[in-house]
Amino acid sequence: MQNLPRKIALTLLMAALTGAAAPVLAAGDGGPFAREITARQSLMRLYTFNIGTLVGMAKGEIAYDADTAGTAAANLAALAALNQQGMWPEGSDSFDNDGTRALPEIWDDLAGFEAKRKGLADAAAAYAGQAGTGLDALRVGLGAVGGACGACHKAFRKPE
Ligand code: HEC
Repeated sequence: MQNLPRKIALTLLMAALTGAAAPVLAAGDGGPFAREITARQSLMRLYTFNIGTLVGMAKGEIAYDADTAGTAAANLAALAALNQQGMWPEGSDSFDNDGTRALPEIWDDLAGFEAKRKGLADAAAAYAGQAGTGLDALRVGLGAVGGACGACHKAFRKPE
């Protein structure tokens, strides 16, 4: 039996994380920060690819498989631990550039932005050991990881 409310919640979570309804912007639109903007958006898409596997399993749309789940969660942890040096240069915000939704608030509050990045890294590291231990554990831990994505987006990503 599908748990319908949970399924709807997870669908909304995925849409909120990916901005699935959004028109595709050309990264950086050929401006001075096109390379950096492309890099950070690519990292976000790799996050999305891996969490998408886990959300799919949580929803029952992808059959649970311990190895696949463990690998997706380990990838997420590795990606979240990546040093993002050079990807967020000052001036590459959504106010001054097309094709990016990085709010200027990032550079007004770099410590806050780093705290959100670390929040995801910590949540993903904890989850890496859980997702492969069973479907219930996969479901229980997913909220904290998704929440860490959403917390940063809420503060630092321009809404659609
Ligand atoms: C530390 C802050 C932060 C965290 C944590 C974070 N994001 Fe993002 N995300 C952003 C910002 C800022 C942008 C806008 C980047 C831009 O357009 O230059 C973004 C953009 C995106 C995009 C759009 C990418 C594109 O091609 O335009 C997706 C999808 C996304 N994030 C998914 C995720 C997922 C999934 C997670 C968690 C696993 C996550 N993000 C965690 C800050 C964050």
